[in-house]
Amino acid sequence: MRRVVCPGSFDPVTNGHLDIVERAASLFDEVVVAVGVNASKNRLFSATERIEMLTTACQDIPNVRVDGFSGLLTDFCREHEIVAIVKGLRAVSDFDYELQMAQMNSSLAPIETVFVPTSPEYSFLASSLVKEVAAFGGDVAGLVPAFVHTRLTERLAERAREQSDE
Ligand code: PNS
Repeated sequence: MRRVVCPGSFDPVTNGHLDIVERAASLFDEVVVAVGVNASKNRLFSATERIEMLTTACQDIPNVRVDGFSGLLTDFCREHEIVAIVKGLRAVSDFDYELQMAQMNSSLAPIETVFVPTSPEYSFLASSLVKEVAAFGGDVAGLVPAFVHTRLTERLAERAREQSDE
């Protein structure tokens, strides 16, 4: 039984994330999509909301489950008998930091990191860019699942109203 983790912030989940999760699910017995819950970071969506959106987005992939984690990813892997971390690599620019994290993680625990090249149609995709483009009224409908697009549009409108009230 090979259980792996796809970790991330997923603020919010994009079609690029789902591509990596689906491909990991076809390679391994079980995939845990682990949402990092780091209270110090300023997120658009709460951890509960991010987990809920991922759960909906992954509901049709039978060997995928979604969980949250705080603290070290390697501790989460140990607790859940996870043998490898699966990460998408969009470009060479991702590689430096991802390699550093992979090596740090393997120094902390006996865990492999498996890099999966991002499909070319998603190579420019990042949650941060999706939020920025959407906040300025750009069309991101094809970059996230439809229900996420609705939630994103609503949340950004709420934020814009809050800011105009200040
Ligand atoms: O989507 P992101 O923001 O690139 O995800 C980063 C994440 C959550 C995978 C990474 O920050 C992480 O693993 N955080 C947990 C804390 C930890 O283990 N840090 C040491 C990494 S070497």
